[in-house]
Amino acid sequence: MIDKLSEIETTALESLAPIKDEAALEAWRIANLGRNSALMTVFSDLGKLSKEERPLIGQAANRVKVALEARLTEKMESVKRSALEHSLSTENLDVTLPGRSVRRGRLHPSTQQLRRVLAILGEMGFQVYTSREVETDEFNFQLLNFPPHHPAREMQDSLYVDAAGRGDNPILLRTHTSPGQIHAMREYAAWNPKEPPPIRIALPGMCYRHEQITSRSEVQFNQVEGLAVGKGITFANLKGTLTDFARRMFGQAARVRFRASYFPFTEPSAEMDVECFVCGGKGCSVCKGSGWLEILGSGMVHPVVLENGGYNPRRYTGFAFGMGPERQLMLRYRIDDIRYFLGNDIRFLEQF
Ligand code: PHE
Repeated sequence: MIDKLSEIETTALESLAPIKDEAALEAWRIANLGRNSALMTVFSDLGKLSKEERPLIGQAANRVKVALEARLTEKMESVKRSALEHSLSTENLDVTLPGRSVRRGRLHPSTQQLRRVLAILGEMGFQVYTSREVETDEFNFQLLNFPPHHPAREMQDSLYVDAAGRGDNPILLRTHTSPGQIHAMREYAAWNPKEPPPIRIALPGMCYRHEQITSRSEVQFNQVEGLAVGKGITFANLKGTLTDFARRMFGQAARVRFRASYFPFTEPSAEMDVECFVCGGKGCSVCKGSGWLEILGSGMVHPVVLENGGYNPRRYTGFAFGMGPERQLMLRYRIDDIRYFLGNDIRFLEQF
């Protein structure tokens, strides 16, 4: 048996010497170290040997295996080295060929617009407050004055995460950034419940609605919410702040108008339009002939909402507004299909 092993070793090493390429080397490995090789058969037949022979043959076979593997590794390196030398000496290397430049990445257009909005609001004293994307019905609706079964919920088709056994308080993906108003007010009020501090925050982030996806609606989109709470805040402050915002965002000449609207969590409520910057108010396809573009929803924070946030509505007032960065981009760049934003098409993304 020992003789057989040394014969296996000698034959293997002899056949290794002339090999010159990687494919032949792989064939050699399979023939000499593979599962069906003579050497491996020695290992699998160990059980047939006597107790005395078994360790001797086992050790000898192992020594051969380690030796063959070591030679294989050496040979592999020398084969690779000579392949490289061969290609360097025979192929022409054109060192003047320009390299492939790395393509520069950039922020997603929605993120860019989100940051523009936050930068402007930041200059106006609104601090960023981030709030969760997964909410309870209580925070997304009830504390914002939408009781269960309230018809205003119809405006915000929802994606539920967990409803089983939760009665009127299922878990859902937030349909707007407004639940952050309650989280923020409660956090601020907790600092000094008797005399809560004033608030001026911007709440950015992704919102989700169970929408039929079309060129005008997506199931996922960004919003930026603004909230100001304090003593003596009036509708005039809301109007002034949002008019100033529109000028900073759309240019000093931007004209705005407010239209009465309805949201359960603001009273009174208003939508703000900016004069169409495509046609200058004359009427075109972007503004659908009206000369105005709807840009955001807003209103004075409803007393019930202030109360739910821990602010006494007899002493505090506030205003809130919510806008969509994707919508602003669509108007600004005349993008006619909202699906581009999440479509992951590099030809679209590269333009920003
Ligand atoms: N949350 C409202 C929406 O998503 C927008 C809004 C925010 C309106 C704040 C008024 C005040 O439609």
